[in-house]
Amino acid sequence: MLKKFLGRAEAPLGEPLPRGPKPLPLVGNLSALKAGLHASLPGLVAKHGGIFTLEVPAGLAAVPLVYFGGPTVVLADPALLEELFRRPDDFSKRLFKHSALRWGAQGKGIFTTDDDEDIHGSAFRVLAPSFSLKSLQSYFGAIQSGIATLMGILSQAAESREAVDVHPLMSQYMFDTFGLIGFGKDFQSLTQKCPLLDSFEGMMKNLGRLSKRNTNVGKVGKGLFSGDLHAFRRKHHKAWVGIEQLLEWKRTSIKMGEAPACPVTGSATSQSSSCPVMKDMCARLVSEPDPLTGQLLPEELMHANATTLLIAGHDTTSTAMTMLLYHIATNPDVEEKLHREVRDVVGERELTWDLVSKLPYTSQVIKESLRLFSPVPEIYKTSPPDRATRLGPYHIPPGTTFCVSQWGIHYNPQVYDDPEKFDPDRWAEDKAGGRSSYAWLPFSSGERACIGLNLSLLEQRVMLAEVVRKFYLRLDPQTNLRVRQPLFLNPQGIHVRLTPRRSSPAPPPDLRDPQLVSMACLDPALAESRSSLDSTPSDTSGLRGKRVVVLYGSNMGTCEDFAEQVLENDKRMGFEGVKAPLDALASSAPPALPRGDEGVVVIVTSTYNGRPPDNAKAFDAWLSCPSAESVLQGVRFAVFGCGNSQWSATYLGFAKRIQDALEHAGGEALTVMGEGDMDCGKVEHAFARWNLTRRIAILHSYDIPVPPTLAETLYPRLPAVNAMVWHGHVSKDMSDGYRRSVMQGTSTVSKMLQDSDAWFGALRQNTELLKGDASRSTRHIEFALPAGRAYIAGDHLG
Ligand code: HEM
Ligand SMILES: Cc1cc2nc3c(=O)[nH]c(=O)nc-3n(C[C@H](O)[C@H](O)[C@H](O)COP(=O)(O)O)c2cc1C
Repeated sequence: MLKKFLGRAEAPLGEPLPRGPKPLPLVGNLSALKAGLHASLPGLVAKHGGIFTLEVPAGLAAVPLVYFGGPTVVLADPALLEELFRRPDDFSKRLFKHSALRWGAQGKGIFTTDDDEDIHGSAFRVLAPSFSLKSLQSYFGAIQSGIATLMGILSQAAESREAVDVHPLMSQYMFDTFGLIGFGKDFQSLTQKCPLLDSFEGMMKNLGRLSKRNTNVGKVGKGLFSGDLHAFRRKHHKAWVGIEQLLEWKRTSIKMGEAPACPVTGSATSQSSSCPVMKDMCARLVSEPDPLTGQLLPEELMHANATTLLIAGHDTTSTAMTMLLYHIATNPDVEEKLHREVRDVVGERELTWDLVSKLPYTSQVIKESLRLFSPVPEIYKTSPPDRATRLGPYHIPPGTTFCVSQWGIHYNPQVYDDPEKFDPDRWAEDKAGGRSSYAWLPFSSGERACIGLNLSLLEQRVMLAEVVRKFYLRLDPQTNLRVRQPLFLNPQGIHVRLTPRRSSPAPPPDLRDPQLVSMACLDPALAESRSSLDSTPSDTSGLRGKRVVVLYGSNMGTCEDFAEQVLENDKRMGFEGVKAPLDALASSAPPALPRGDEGVVVIVTSTYNGRPPDNAKAFDAWLSCPSAESVLQGVRFAVFGCGNSQWSATYLGFAKRIQDALEHAGGEALTVMGEGDMDCGKVEHAFARWNLTRRIAILHSYDIPVPPTLAETLYPRLPAVNAMVWHGHVSKDMSDGYRRSVMQGTSTVSKMLQDSDAWFGALRQNTELLKGDASRSTRHIEFALPAGRAYIAGDHLG
């Protein structure tokens, strides 16, 4: 303490932080940010690199860029960002307690709480199940019913040859869709005036104006003078009352078991008739207790979180959708490629949950659009207020504010070639593979990453696929793009013209179109593997009396649902079973684990920032105890990890730890660990395959013959065109170009290849070694390894 007062500096922990543009007295670097913070940062990053200091006097920018006294550090370097996100105890969200947003729109909602506030944890625990895979699936009908209304409006505009003002339309569309998902109610803003949307938009508009005012004191003064503050308060009050009425309406609906007239639209029906049974987010908010405390959230927090969800779920995605349509309208070649994909996969059929996950190029387009226009332009982290630390090689003074600039990273020329180009191909597997996942952060990363990312991506995929399969889009000359920033970025002034595509059905499959051929075989194969999951192998009497213990770790519910499926499958095979959270193993009454051929233990778990989900934390600690080893020794086990490769450094981290610990303790792995990646939307498929493999392994381990129909589903037959290439002799008859296109098409779409991480190697030599005996064959095969690939004995060669 004395040292501090005497001003004796501690020895620096690393190099000084690189300086950004030279600050001027009083105004610091404000002149370097004239274009607005988000739009100025890419240029500054190109000039000063991925880390540099910026000095902006407190309160002079839209968000409090600094605590008084220190420079803000702009961060746009993937390696440093990875370190920052992996050290949440050192670099935390600690900004909102003091922010105007807290007394403004969102109150103490999950978004605007700091890491050191318990209320974040309770809101997260209550809301997380609303974002599980099963919940997303249950929202699909709501998303489709919103899309149907939108398509009707677009068709009318196309017929009457009127240009569409994109952002207001997307805003209404998202408001209605989120009305259904979030509140179980179509707000009908697409078809009639909606007072709730009006008060939200008004409130956000005034918030934007207010945050442009200069110092905090000046802000209030000028706000009062201009009337903005008063207007903000009025709209804010209306929005506040609107949400209060919705919460009350929801409580009454739950109590009565039916919906009274909705306070927003006045109508009494609760959900669109096309929606499957789903629990909307607000229903969860008012009726589900925090699983940790057993208490409902206090009224104030229910209100703040309902508001937060409405803003976060509506504003961000409507901006993302607006920019998607903008990018399509300005890139006809991309539009064509997209249309081809949607035509080949979906054709004229209804776009289903299964089909929407089979549109890889559509996902690439969305990724690229979010790279170029990230609706949340920057987020903030703070280093510990009471001690210095290091980030990379740099000394970080106590309480340093970091501005993680999405726009800075996404336009960083060190990371992306030609960063300003809209190029969805940069997300093709072969090009994106080597890039750090911290180079794409529209949804942030780590502990406080966006909870709604999968929902938003799903909504975007559905909208994009439906729009491109019906229309050509072209930018109208009246377009004058202006970006506002009430809270998130808001692109105004984009107008597009729509021309209906010919309504003829998709052309029949053509053998010369390899993508089409391979795609055609995807659905039946999946359907086949699914149905075989439900079919019980003929004689499983040998399994009678055997036990299965299914343990899960899950925050949002996805892994718990998978665990339930495992239990049902195994019971059908003849096992007696129980399902429990992983923490049960560390409790005072743990389930007894079967050993050897007494049965099997199955573990399905997610990972959160490399750490266990809430109901597996005690288990994680228990796993390190010496006694755990004796409990786990000799158990036959299978592990399925469910994660998201966006968290690349800690992808499936907890599941992998369990797999290692069980192997180390002398457990017997039935099969390799299953890996489900939420990022590529194929989790269910990965789970289905792992579950099938696991069940076959169980049959093997009890010497029960595997019915051929079950085994075959593991190795889906290759489509005819691929088989020709495989066998080699026909491939020679094809032109090089055609062969390449077959390979390319197959590698992008073949389920088997994708799932087994297969790759192509050029064949150098293939000669028969055995002479004379035509019934046997031993061949000498040489092939060239592509860069970064290895072949080890035992790898499958096909
Ligand atoms: C394109 C769409 C979206 C983008 C770009 C986006 C972006 C983000 C970002 C960057 C954060 C981190 C903020 C910070 O660290 O300060 C965040 C958090 C959050 N987002 Fe999103 N978001 C989107 C869609 C959604 C949707 C659809 C929902 C809900 C329906 C949602 C709900 C949330 C919530 C509740 C948080 C706070 C999570 C926490 O702190 O634990 N977002 N979002
Ligand atoms: C805040 C947050 C952090 C996450 N961290 C990781 C991670 O470190 N590694 C990973 O593989 N997946 C991570 N994920 C993805 C989840 O594990 C994934 O969505 C999983 O399906 C959730 O399963 P659950 O619903 O059973 O909890 C994270 C997700 C969120 C929302």
